Amino acid sequence: MSDTLSPVERGKYAAATRASAFVETGMKVGLGTGSTAEWLVKALGKRVRNDGLEIVGVPTSTRTAALAREEGVPISTLDEVRWLDVTIDGADEYDPSLNLIKGGGGALLQEKIVATASDRMVVIADATKKVDALGAFPLPVEVIGFGMRTTQLLIEEMLEGLDVMGNSAVPRMDGDGLFVTDEGNHILDLHLERIGNARQLALILNQIPGVVENGLFVDICDVIVTGHGDGKVEVHDINTGDHEVVHIPSAEPDNLFRDIAE
Ligand code: 5RP
Repeated sequence: MSDTLSPVERGKYAAATRASAFVETGMKVGLGTGSTAEWLVKALGKRVRNDGLEIVGVPTSTRTAALAREEGVPISTLDEVRWLDVTIDGADEYDPSLNLIKGGGGALLQEKIVATASDRMVVIADATKKVDALGAFPLPVEVIGFGMRTTQLLIEEMLEGLDVMGNSAVPRMDGDGLFVTDEGNHILDLHLERIGNARQLALILNQIPGVVENGLFVDICDVIVTGHGDGKVEVHDINTGDHEVVHIPSAEPDNLFRDIAE
């Protein structure tokens, strides 16, 4: 089975496996959304089933909640738990200051609320997510349905005065209809090519009526765990400056899949 994993998928697996070691018994853990976060939930489920790990997870989407249930990871809501020890989540891009673009999977609103309610946010990513400047990945912005076309125009107009290289805001589709988020909203994907000032853009976007939240995570991520196709994993803590390199054995996906199949 491990032969079928692409280098990118191996990198995701390796990053998630290393990051699962940040989780200890007794912790309240934010569970991210996306393919990298799925590896994390599987790794935590394995520890719950086999090693008696006792945690409470707070999922950031209905998708992740369903997977956590399948994997036997106990879950709760943020309203019940209130504050988390750590959130571990993927990202679409991260820059050298560990600012992020998130929301490729459409879960940015819950992801940002959960990450902000955590002592630490650990981001897990394959090496393709590392960029010098954010913006090549279209920036997701969650908007309410009412007046969405006007919100789109206001955003495009606002972008013309900012340090970005594009200004189109494209409604995200799901088949023939608009993509609908877990909160019943929609997503506009902003094609910006390069974002000169992520902090400024994040603040201005959220002032536009109709915008619920944007996918820029500025000063939220504490640790980045980057997985490479050969199993090498780099862990960088922005607060301490610590940088660690480890190797995750490539044979492990076989065991993981076997464990899940049992
Ligand atoms: C979902 C997200 C994801 O974390 C992001 O899209 C990365 O996904 P993947 O791990 O599948 O590459 O923000 O809203």
